[in-house]
Amino acid sequence: MLKIVTIIGARPQIIKAAALSRAIRNHFPDKIKEVLVHTGQHYDNNMSQVFFDELGIPEPDYNLEIGSASHGRQTGRMIERIEEVLLEESPDFMVVYGDTNSTLAASIAASKIQTPIVHIEAGLRSFNKKMPEEINRIMCDHSSTMLFTPTPTGLKNLINEGFSPDNKAPFTADNPGIFHCGDVMLDNSLYFKQFANEESSILRDLNLSGKQFLLGTIHRDNNTDQPERLNSIFSALNLISGENEITLALPLHPRTIKAMESKIERSLSIKMSGNPFLKIIPSVSFLDMIMLESHCDMIFTDSGGVQKEAYFFHKPCIILRSETEWKEIVDEGNGIIADANQQAMIDAYHYFQTNKSMLNFPPIYGDGSAAEFICAAMVKRV
Ligand code: UD1
Repeated sequence: MLKIVTIIGARPQIIKAAALSRAIRNHFPDKIKEVLVHTGQHYDNNMSQVFFDELGIPEPDYNLEIGSASHGRQTGRMIERIEEVLLEESPDFMVVYGDTNSTLAASIAASKIQTPIVHIEAGLRSFNKKMPEEINRIMCDHSSTMLFTPTPTGLKNLINEGFSPDNKAPFTADNPGIFHCGDVMLDNSLYFKQFANEESSILRDLNLSGKQFLLGTIHRDNNTDQPERLNSIFSALNLISGENEITLALPLHPRTIKAMESKIERSLSIKMSGNPFLKIIPSVSFLDMIMLESHCDMIFTDSGGVQKEAYFFHKPCIILRSETEWKEIVDEGNGIIADANQQAMIDAYHYFQTNKSMLNFPPIYGDGSAAEFICAAMVKRV
């Protein structure tokens, strides 16, 4: 039996873990034993527990309750606690997702004691090292033993950085295996869509059933912590929804709600309160998010995960960053990088309103079975 320790911590990782846990339960119950560790990077109910409740993920075997702190302190605290768990459990592999501080901390802890690392969502690059996530993903990739990339671009990035697609098992950190397997988030979006239709009441609750509406999320520190960017983004969103009389639902990360209280200019705040088309709400569960994404007209976001979900549900996406690691979305013409530029956001909105019926969404994220592929590859390696 293969023993893996899976490390999760931030909202999207909890959701991604659902796909692997489900594949283990359904296809590999006597081949893989999973020990789940939650670092506690996200801890608010609607950033963490809600996903366990609705996605059928087993409760974590360990909750390290690290919480929020500066990047260095948060990462340091996690390294110490994750090392203890790895020494206690002595797994065949440690599995990590994406690019958060939990991913980085786990990679450092594991590599120091030679626990082989499996990185899911490997190879993605924004080529902007000012983003903490870019450093996190590079460090994790370069200490991993098996790397699973969701896209052909991810595979190309790894090869450009010296990884070889010709390496053969047994894999080690010095002889890593790289695999293109599709995206576990597509597995989840396809699987949970049926439950969302049955169980989510968000469209009714927000009075959006059968109506056209827009969806937006903003949470990157680059946007929340810089007043000019935050004001420019909200000013554009306010104008777009108000002038076009189209509802914009904005489920916001707790840090964005906090930042708005102190950083949004008074004149804009007054205009936003008088705009009946802006619906600002706390962040929502995954099933609610799937409902909003699959029924809206268009999505504004600075999240990586939401850009992809826009694509899965065939919605145009306006990207509120200066670059993206999901470059296929832009190359296919279904995403426009508007950064925090008010005019670019408005122009992108009008462009997509005019052209949305002509967009094509070829299947670039696999077929919804990435998690099974990953499990089978891990089992084969030992
Ligand atoms: C983290 C990831 C980011 C990912 C995002 C998903 C890093 C460096 N960034 O960003 O890549 O896209 O998760 O959501 O790991 N807070 C709460 N409640 C919570 C958690 C956080 O109020 O449950 C607030 C705190 O003020 C905290 C701030 O949000 O300081 C930022 O949280 P943090 O975990 O540091 O990063 P995220 O922005 O969530």
